[in-house]
Amino acid sequence: MKKIGLLGGNGRMGKWVQQLLESEYSKKAELAIAPRSGESLAGLFECDAIIDFSSPLAALQFKREAMKRQMEFTPPIAVGSTGWGLGEEEELEELTGKTLLFVASNFSTGVYALAEILRQNAPLLKTLGYTPVILEGHHHHKKDAPSGTAITLQKIISPEAHQSVQTHPIRAGEIIGDHQVHFYGVADELQIGHRAQDRSIFARGAIDVALWLADLKAKDPSRTGRLTMADYFKTALGL
Ligand SMILES: NC(=O)c1ccc[n+]([C@@H]2O[C@H](COP(=O)([O-])OP(=O)(O)OC[C@H]3O[C@@H](n4cnc5c(N)ncnc54)[C@H](OP(=O)(O)O)[C@@H]3O)[C@@H](O)[C@H]2O)c1
Repeated sequence: MKKIGLLGGNGRMGKWVQQLLESEYSKKAELAIAPRSGESLAGLFECDAIIDFSSPLAALQFKREAMKRQMEFTPPIAVGSTGWGLGEEEELEELTGKTLLFVASNFSTGVYALAEILRQNAPLLKTLGYTPVILEGHHHHKKDAPSGTAITLQKIISPEAHQSVQTHPIRAGEIIGDHQVHFYGVADELQIGHRAQDRSIFARGAIDVALWLADLKAKDPSRTGRLTMADYFKTALGL
């Protein structure tokens, strides 16, 4: 039974993680601790893996606490928070000296598939003269815009100048997560996208990744470094 620590347990995503741990994953994993804003993070360091669906600030608080501790290695962490400011991701990266750091702007299988399709086909569409445009939609509570997923897709479509990819965020109602990529030609248009139907896809992805990280750490407690969704799909699932 793996002990999972959770940052952001009281939020929309955190509640889904807790619900799945108590149902689908109840034989493999249990929620050990979910500190609220302002509470001690100490319990997280007793866990087999940590899931973060909170905010960059909370993830950085965890990082600062980890660096202060007299522990050679700390538990691996799957970070899902988005909206990183200038230099913040670089600071988080310091965790790679102490543990396995996994950062994903989107934990869903479908968005991984979308990213891979774009990675393979965007260069051809660029050569053929198509202009990419991203339309992304989320609920009106979402704090960051464009979304972390839209930024990831920009970087895949145009690695050398990602900010040049036109991106239009919609913040309305209770949209869960919608990313549509349009490629405009002179007299035609191609479209590919992903639409989340509920938040379970992100929560399930984060739990699967956390269990994978916990296994990697159990096999080799001194293993550190940064891992991505591509590593997870290629290594854990053999894709
Ligand atoms: N990677 C993915 O697949 C994915 C999918 C969906 C969402 N996300 C991202 O995940 C994050 C959370 O999304 P959400 O919709 O669940 O947001 P939310 O409903 O606003 O929940 C955020 C939670 O984080 C907590 N939190 C914020 N700052 C904290 C701190 N300094 N210390 C401890 N806890 C803190 C909040 O606690 P309080 O209520 O106590 O303030 C709240 O419970 C966002 O960045 C979102 O973009 C990622």
